Amino acid sequence: MEPMGENVMPRAAGDGGIGRRAVLCGGAGAVGATVIAGCGGSGGAKSAQDLKGKQIAEAADVPVGGGKIYGDEKVVVTQPAQGEFKAFTAVCTHQGCTVGSVRNGIIHCPCHGSEFKITDGSVAKGPAGTPLQEYPIQVKDGGIVVT
Ligand code: FES
Repeated sequence: MEPMGENVMPRAAGDGGIGRRAVLCGGAGAVGATVIAGCGGSGGAKSAQDLKGKQIAEAADVPVGGGKIYGDEKVVVTQPAQGEFKAFTAVCTHQGCTVGSVRNGIIHCPCHGSEFKITDGSVAKGPAGTPLQEYPIQVKDGGIVVT
């Protein structure tokens, strides 16, 4: 670091900003990399492994023929028929928005209007092209638990 600074300084005598800018850019790059890594880790759908063993919903809170979105865990739990529960990621497969509502048997994404079926997470309407990832679950003591 020292020898390099000595080499840069004489040449940059008339433009002392070059050396300083290089240092700043290096620092900013490192910070940027950290931020990007942080964003990547928190933005996507959780894997079933991440949620394994976790109770993600109370069965009683999930309406029959509808569903409920849990933003913290980024999951949507549905009950297509009485006592039949399903769980999917709430992260839209189009561009990663969190889905916004469940009504009339459909999970809606507010960003560009994609729709997914509450029965299996399959696409009912694009632009999304792939289904919502489904999580294996079971009902335990009134709770929906990822298995
Ligand atoms: S991100 Fe959901 S429709 Fe585009």
